[in-house]
Amino acid sequence: MHFNEFVRDIVDFPKPGITFKDITPLLQDPKALQQAAEALYVLVNERPIDKVVGVDSRGFIFAPILAMKLNAGFVPVRKAGKLPFRTVAEPYQLEYGQDILEIHTDAILKGEKVLVHDDVLATGGTCKAVCKLVEQLGGEVVQCNFLVNLTFLKGAAQLPNYTITSLLSY
Ligand code: PRP
Ligand code: MG
Repeated sequence: MHFNEFVRDIVDFPKPGITFKDITPLLQDPKALQQAAEALYVLVNERPIDKVVGVDSRGFIFAPILAMKLNAGFVPVRKAGKLPFRTVAEPYQLEYGQDILEIHTDAILKGEKVLVHDDVLATGGTCKAVCKLVEQLGGEVVQCNFLVNLTFLKGAAQLPNYTITSLLSY
């Protein structure tokens, strides 16, 4: 399936000069949704995974689906102030802005193998912060997988020690 046919460019969103990759056409097509989930799962290539960490908010779409396919648990990393239990926090620089990400302190056990999932890899700031959170808890980041890698923003260069995979690259 040509997944790129289900991703549309929205020019000047959310700010002038930024072209947003809108994946909602893919999500609303039953076959594309199913096949994208399967293709993301195949990218993991039989590596054993204990937890799939999904990134607030668009990482929450596929991360639980992947977790179910991998017989792993799902862990949300959320923006500051959203998680109710004890957390560790990591500030990060975004393509357009700055924020803090948090994870529950009991979400990952020492030595657990973790798949990090998000919809888009842009500058890599978000993913780098998520990997730091996982490692603070003693988890091992086995792979970071994305629907879309905006390679021209060189996010992978921020993540030299990780295996980066994506369904689509631009
Ligand atoms: C977008 C996207 C990734 C992140 C990638 O999320 O969903 O999470 O930016 O950018 P980076 O690689 O430059 O860090 P955003 O923070 O806009 O929020 P959302 O997922 O809640 O829409
Ligand atoms: Mg996001």
